[in-house]
Amino acid sequence: MKTVGVVGCGLMGSGIAQVSAMAGLTTWVREVDQPTLDKGLGRIRKFLDDGVAKGKVTAESRDETLGRLKGTTELQDFATCDLVIEAVVESMDAKRQVFSTLDRIVPASTVLASNTSSLSITEIASTASRPERVLGLHFFNPVPLMKLVEVIRALPTSDAAFDAARGFVERLGKTAVVAKDTPGFVVNRLLVPYLLDAVRIYESGVASKEDIDNGMKLGCGYPMGPLTLLDFVGLDTTYSIANIMFEEFKLPQYAAPPLLKRMVLAGYLGRKSGRGFYDYSMT
Ligand code: 3HC
Repeated sequence: MKTVGVVGCGLMGSGIAQVSAMAGLTTWVREVDQPTLDKGLGRIRKFLDDGVAKGKVTAESRDETLGRLKGTTELQDFATCDLVIEAVVESMDAKRQVFSTLDRIVPASTVLASNTSSLSITEIASTASRPERVLGLHFFNPVPLMKLVEVIRALPTSDAAFDAARGFVERLGKTAVVAKDTPGFVVNRLLVPYLLDAVRIYESGVASKEDIDNGMKLGCGYPMGPLTLLDFVGLDTTYSIANIMFEEFKLPQYAAPPLLKRMVLAGYLGRKSGRGFYDYSMT
């Protein structure tokens, strides 16, 4: 594997493109327009600069990584990619559109992966003329720091595509967890009900948000409390994952609490909007 393509340069796409380029692979990353692309590439540059300032990345490695990154607004530029990872919005329509376009552009040998956290990989694969080369590669936020990638086999995924994707994860220096194509895979299947329960506890007045967060941070050694983590992941993202999981399983633990829905409707999406459970307007 020499060349990787990443569709989407948002929070996840930029992280995936960064770790791919850091692993020595020529990495194309595509956004819908130049300003959005510039913003995503700027996020990568800042992360690498911060890494240099912290003594975690050498200036030489930062420059080489940036040299391997190629931004574009055209999927046509992915024609030489050995692996393409889609990281666009969590919408089946948007993903199906990306996969059907890629299907026409990339060679037959290219592996196609989705970074979806909850949508069906098998349904995404059904768009492709070669569904056997489609699978899931689910990364975690912040991608450059989190050591896990879930590798998801759709029903038609071939061994060759699966082995190539797993080899890619190893090349990134990350650990692969293999999961079946079910909503939430392993991590979100466990994490999402926990986050929703934290909102339910807060909503019913059991404890303050700070005490709920400190409870899990100090009592269980989690790096972030659940409400801080919700702000970090995005309330809209968690709400959408919960809805997809509830739709599939019809179990109450996946039902979004009323407060979460109302916060999303109010635009309190967490860090990215400046306000979630906590206020980030000054950061
Ligand atoms: N470059 C290189 N290294 C960096 C860096 C940079 N720009 N910035 C930070 N680091 C390093 C630090 O030097 C430090 O390294 P050390 O452990 O060797 O000292 C390490 O990364 C941690 O950084 P910080 O000390 O600055 O920050 P924290 O200790 O506060 O950790 C965190 C930040 C890693 C985000 C931690 O709070 C955490 O793990 N939070 C939980 C995140 C989580 O759960 N993510 C998953 C969300 S779910 C998801 O994504 C799935 C989706 O489908 C919803």
